Amino acid sequence: MPDNRVIVTDESTGQSLELPVIKGTEGEPTLQIKALPSTLGYFTYDPGFTATASCTSKITFIDGGKGILRYRGYPIEQLAEHSNFLEVAYLLLEGELPTAAEFEAFDREITYHTMIHEKLRTFISGFHYDAHPMAMMAGVVGSLSAFYHDKMDMDNPKHRRLAAIRMIAKMPTIAAACYRHHMGWPAVYPDNSLSYTENFLNMMFSVPSEKYEVSQVAAKAFDLLFILHADHEQNASTSTVRLVGSTGANPYASVAAGISALWGPAHGGANEAVLTMLAEIGDVSRVGEFIDRAKDKNDPFRLMGFGHRVYKNYDPRATIIRQAAHEVLQEIGSDDPLLSLAMELERIALEDEYFISKKLYPNVDFYSGIIYKALGIPTSMFTVMFAIARTVGWVSQWLEQEDVGTPIGRPRQVYAGAAERDYKQIGSR
Ligand code: ACO
Repeated sequence: MPDNRVIVTDESTGQSLELPVIKGTEGEPTLQIKALPSTLGYFTYDPGFTATASCTSKITFIDGGKGILRYRGYPIEQLAEHSNFLEVAYLLLEGELPTAAEFEAFDREITYHTMIHEKLRTFISGFHYDAHPMAMMAGVVGSLSAFYHDKMDMDNPKHRRLAAIRMIAKMPTIAAACYRHHMGWPAVYPDNSLSYTENFLNMMFSVPSEKYEVSQVAAKAFDLLFILHADHEQNASTSTVRLVGSTGANPYASVAAGISALWGPAHGGANEAVLTMLAEIGDVSRVGEFIDRAKDKNDPFRLMGFGHRVYKNYDPRATIIRQAAHEVLQEIGSDDPLLSLAMELERIALEDEYFISKKLYPNVDFYSGIIYKALGIPTSMFTVMFAIARTVGWVSQWLEQEDVGTPIGRPRQVYAGAAERDYKQIGSR
């Protein structure tokens, strides 16, 4: 609730307006500007929404300056150490940590929905074998509304929740099916005796001709990575999901749009871009050259995996994942030269005045790709891993928005095109 005010005065007319200040539980005070156009006749201009809150949310809190990330109040460090991905999914969806009985019921509910319609597999097989998996994911998830239209009354809270559960449950099955299509491998169906991440790894990598044992190191690492990627308040893809959802579009269409937004290299596509960049650098001796390119204003090259819109301090997820990257590589005995290259890049960038002054630190995606690579995930699937985890955040945010009921998202613009002019016949132009 507002408890103090800021006064804006238009000096050309002398007219003033008191703007209420909204204070959340934590975070910066925010001005409520809704009355500006109707009273003073002004809109506000904020490309990239760097200073604009688009909603009120109770799900995730970030303090970018202090490097803090909390889901429903719980620090990410504690969740990473003590929780598991499905428990975090419950927390994000329901707002509280589950009791043992609630967790068991939730686990069963997710497990029950892991299968996908057989015709979806036919749909997947229609893609060219070398289609990018993110293109397939966006298409297949968007099509879910055509397969599961039985419970699609979005005014019904039970139907809304079921759609959310279905997406969390089916995403690993769809992702693995897309990968297997690319590889030309036969389908592997969900095995409900396995945990969420074990099941995913089994669907990805097991083949009929050989016994496949899910590596516990890999399952644990995936669980951690999924926890770290599960939500990140109003980032580009989540804002996309909310914006599409605000039109009344179905949740599958909304999440498909989120997947497309995530694909961009400035967002979730960065983990793939980091590996491409490391391969391009190729050798520790060339790190300096690429650092110089990143600093050169005339060169569009940026250090992938560095910088963040919100964190102007170390990304807390990067601290956790950096440690995990070392542990995983040690446990599986990998001596991937890309890791030493990444470490050298990190060391030099952290000592460089350009990166220090601009507060450009390694972000979560700087390290996630290295772990995925070590665990046998092909580079083109990295962002799909992110999408599986972030689905929990997308559907939690979508549910929160739908439960409250928000107006359609519709930003304004500053028109800078031609003023009114008369049409000329083609012969006289
Ligand atoms: N390498 C070199 N310079 C950079 C980098 C980088 N990775 N990131 C930002 N800068 C510079 C910019 O050139 C700019 O310099 P200037 O002030 O002299 O013009 C300054 O730092 C601020 O950059 P902005 O683009 O204004 O910062 P913004 O907050 O809009 O961008 C972003 C954040 C998109 C993440 C950016 O840092 C970037 O492109 N990083 C690389 C891609 C990446 O790793 N994305 C993953 C983000 S995390 C996630 O989605 C999970």
